[in-house]
Amino acid sequence: MALAFLSSPAAATGVGADAGAKQYAEHCAICHGAAAKGDGPLAELLIAPPPDLTGLSARNGGTFPEERVYRTIDGRADIRAHGTRAMPAWGSAFRAKAEEAADPSTGPVNPENVVTARILSLVRYLESIQE
Ligand code: HEC
Repeated sequence: MALAFLSSPAAATGVGADAGAKQYAEHCAICHGAAAKGDGPLAELLIAPPPDLTGLSARNGGTFPEERVYRTIDGRADIRAHGTRAMPAWGSAFRAKAEEAADPSTGPVNPENVVTARILSLVRYLESIQE
């Protein structure tokens, strides 16, 4: 099943691959590597090696596994189901940041919308670098 909202107009603007590239460099390259090959500076210190993220489609029969990638980055459902894992749950981290940044004077903001947008931009970016 495809995530219908991934191809919405919003996905083409605010949550596109460019925003994702910036976030990737900031949060993910340290483990997965600048070129997403699994060779970031922290990689050798981890118990589980960070996978090469340019091969997600190749390892999935040529189709980009967008739902699985989204869920893996978010991480919250996985942790509830299976306990801790090697990668941080970015859904929790992004939510904490969004709550901290929320400005009540500009009206209510659902922090989950911010989390969704950030994860979607990362999914889009990863999709754009598949080999
Ligand atoms: C602390 C190191 C670390 C950081 C930082 C990190 N990852 Fe990971 N990542 C891992 C490890 C290790 C795995 C292997 C799965 C596991 O054991 O959790 C993984 C797995 C993944 C997978 C699943 C790959 C597959 O084959 O299904 C995706 C997608 C992913 N990471 C994306 C990201 C993104 C996007 C970011 C930044 C927001 C990020 N990772 C940041 C260590 C990291």
